[in-house]
Amino acid sequence: MTRDELSKIEDEVRKCRKCPLHQDRINAVPGEGSREPIIMLVGEAPGRNEDIQGRPFVGRAGEYLTYLISLLGMERDDVYITNVVKCRPPNNRDPTDTEIEKCLPYLRRQIQILKPRIIVALGRHAAKTLSAELGVVFKGITRERGRIIKGRIYGLDVYLVYTYHPAAALYNPNLKNVIERDFKQLDKLLKDIYRGSRKSGTLDDFI
Ligand code: URA
Ligand code: SF4
Repeated sequence: MTRDELSKIEDEVRKCRKCPLHQDRINAVPGEGSREPIIMLVGEAPGRNEDIQGRPFVGRAGEYLTYLISLLGMERDDVYITNVVKCRPPNNRDPTDTEIEKCLPYLRRQIQILKPRIIVALGRHAAKTLSAELGVVFKGITRERGRIIKGRIYGLDVYLVYTYHPAAALYNPNLKNVIERDFKQLDKLLKDIYRGSRKSGTLDDFI
């Protein structure tokens, strides 16, 4: 990865007008984090705070996501955080299929450049979209969450991890235990495939 390639995507996203979501946004939110991430976390779309700041997961859901990342012994800077759709849908409505389709090339390029070994789908939109990119069947987030799929995306070997969206736990505290269990399972996956320090070590080859 050269820094320029990623910065180029970020610049393109900030100027993008490929779908109607550009009309109401304050800031597009390309994503942020490590330039050599083992883990990429993919949410749905920016919310109000993200739109104001131009950064992903900086509101209440973001605070909780930062806590979840700490369960992995990591900080936000150790992972890459982004969304399927880079601009805020009005009133936080769900992104449409067309908006997702128009925006997806950015996520594709981010994955190709950053080459994460683990992609965490946060919630059903990310899960559905990434399942399709991996060519695996998706039967709904309630059925799939907790699953870890070993697959290939754009020629890259990855683990795709499904969990609920962190905002879901804010609305329904019962889901907190579930999400935290999913992150502890992810922590175990990291232990299993990691050699050396989590922040600078190399991953074992995929077996
Ligand atoms: N919810 C998301 O899906 N993404 C964000 O960046 C913030 C909240
Ligand atoms: Fe472009 Fe994506 Fe924003 Fe639509 S949501 S304007 S495709 S960056």
